[in-house]
Amino acid sequence: MSNALFPNRPRVDAREKVLGTAKYGADFAIGDMLYAMQVPATVAKGQVTTLSIADAMRVPGVVRVLTATDFPPPPPAVPGASPPPPMIVTDITYRGQPVALVVAESIEAAIEGAEAIHPVYASVGFSSVVDAAGVANERAKDVVAGDANAKMANATMRHKAEYVSPAQHHNPMELLSTTAHWQGGVLTVYEGTQSTNLVKGVLMSNLRLDPEQVVVKSPQIGGGFGQKGSVQRQTTLIARAAMLLGRPVKMVVPRGQVFHNATFRPKSRHRIELGSDASGRISAIRYDVDHQASRSGQFGPDYHEHVPQMYGVADYLGTSADIRLDTQDPGYMRCPYPHPAAFAFESAVDELAFKLGEDPVEFRLKHKAEVDPLNGKPLSSTFLNDCIREGARRFGWDKRKSAPGSMRLPDGTQIGWGMGCGAYPVITHPSIATLRVRADGTSRFAVAGHEMGQGIRSMLEQVLIRDLAIDPAGLQLAIGDTSAAPQHTTAGSWGTASGAPVAAEAAAKLNLAMVDLMAGRRIVGNLHQQLAAIRRPYIEIEVSHVGPGQGSKELATLRAGGYAIAGPEYPAFTTFSYIAHFVEVHVEPRTRRVRVPRVVSVVDCGRVVSPRTAESQVRGGVVWGISAALREATDVDPRYGGWLNNDLADYYVAVNADIGEIDVGMIDKPDPLVNPLGVKGLGEVAMSGVSGAVANAIFHATGKRLREMPFRIEDLL
Ligand code: MOS
Repeated sequence: MSNALFPNRPRVDAREKVLGTAKYGADFAIGDMLYAMQVPATVAKGQVTTLSIADAMRVPGVVRVLTATDFPPPPPAVPGASPPPPMIVTDITYRGQPVALVVAESIEAAIEGAEAIHPVYASVGFSSVVDAAGVANERAKDVVAGDANAKMANATMRHKAEYVSPAQHHNPMELLSTTAHWQGGVLTVYEGTQSTNLVKGVLMSNLRLDPEQVVVKSPQIGGGFGQKGSVQRQTTLIARAAMLLGRPVKMVVPRGQVFHNATFRPKSRHRIELGSDASGRISAIRYDVDHQASRSGQFGPDYHEHVPQMYGVADYLGTSADIRLDTQDPGYMRCPYPHPAAFAFESAVDELAFKLGEDPVEFRLKHKAEVDPLNGKPLSSTFLNDCIREGARRFGWDKRKSAPGSMRLPDGTQIGWGMGCGAYPVITHPSIATLRVRADGTSRFAVAGHEMGQGIRSMLEQVLIRDLAIDPAGLQLAIGDTSAAPQHTTAGSWGTASGAPVAAEAAAKLNLAMVDLMAGRRIVGNLHQQLAAIRRPYIEIEVSHVGPGQGSKELATLRAGGYAIAGPEYPAFTTFSYIAHFVEVHVEPRTRRVRVPRVVSVVDCGRVVSPRTAESQVRGGVVWGISAALREATDVDPRYGGWLNNDLADYYVAVNADIGEIDVGMIDKPDPLVNPLGVKGLGEVAMSGVSGAVANAIFHATGKRLREMPFRIEDLL
């Protein structure tokens, strides 16, 4: 398989997106549509004792109100699997949980009907704050390599501190929505989801449907970020309404309700202790972390995901715990564990380097990792130091004055130059794809994958048009559709490492099949023209691909709609993607406002398949890392549970004025082992370490070490 650089081409869907013709889940207009709105619980914990629908039914246009009695009892729990999201139930486990669904001829009537419902609750005491005394602390399994306690005892220098990352909510532009249509015994659901497969599975189990009775389509996603990777609370409700009423039903979940019902990034507290030895290298790491969890959710405290392998330190002791609270389930939000972990760890590394009188770049370069200390396996490709060197060169790091507070603009603005690194596990899943090329100039590639704007279609097109003589304009990429190919959840930065190899294998297999078909006939022209010349309407092949160490078991799991991921530990090696960020901050002398005029980020994601969308991914990750460091936090309402700042007016994000130039560099060297193309992954590593680099830059600007995000003006007064 060729391992040449891929060209920089435009996004395949750029034009339709700019024209507004790209169709998202809620854009599907089906005749005779009904509209729905849910009624959120106003208590944090307890029971619905009485719920009268009479006032809602009197609203003109309301056709039905669904309550707990309209749903089958929840199916039995599958051992080891997360429980399916309950439908409407009378047990309230978090504020904002839906207690009724109003279905009407118009969205206005649905809203008016929902506002007319005032359930009576029996509420009980609840716990919503991580830092409160007496919260339930559930320890998870330790992550251990070597003997960190012994090495720490012998350390010549130590640094120990606690770092805090707040609860945050992703706010993709596209709201959560479900459009469901029950027709001829088949339920079709249109929804912006990263997991058409999981949505299908939950609908089958909640509503007792067979596989052939459920089709889920997610044609485009207006931002996923992990929020749309799990099954949403509203999906079963809307599907049930469509089945009961025999008409299509649509609901777009209002922004405020998204805050209360979707997953979120939980608050996490990171206690890190680093020790260094006489050589000036880090010799021991102790890292104890806990985070906010729901009562029964399974989003574990897996923060030791990249730190143990980052800097070649053999002695590591990682402990972690869930703090069980009365909230909806937290979950994946871009760079879920490495973002808060890298903020904490890269801050701690900077603090230790400062204590040792070492330059942060030189200090990190001393720590090249070769093996995974948790299993002794080699790290298959680690170009982190290349990222650091190239980033330092582009940034002009050699002009940095090392003393904090030593760089200023003439107006007194303090300048800070900081850096931080990140890593993210390289994960892959199996794929089963079909590729059809037709004489009429069109082609169709159907495979697992969901387009959330990250560019998965652009990436697939790059591989197919490199390897196949076809017309790119006629190529249809059928993804995010359970009726097109077995779907696997798209998340964890595994889209390209899974999709690019199967696209390459499909192209190779089709080219071979074409050679057979042509049987020695030589016809000039592309594949379409060759097929036309021999009067064949089309040629089609099917191909399957698995990650290293995977086989028929994982293919069966894929076919059944399950999770079948491998990595970052594979049978013979471990592999990560890496990034180095260099950040310049300006701290205004009077307002103490922090702005970020300049960032250089250099990434090692293996072979880059789609340079255009890859660069865009890094920019997005950097923007989010800055926003996390300086703005974003969701505040718990300790009186009533739920969230206080549940709208975009009060949930602050960084804006254009906060961020200037972002220069993205790519090492673009293939990983030799993970797949034939050498592709690792990119979407999440982009954000890993950005917030730490911002914290380190603020320290360099001001001499003030901030350890709790977001860093606000009041922290710098
Ligand atoms: Mo990503 S947070 O695994 O969609």
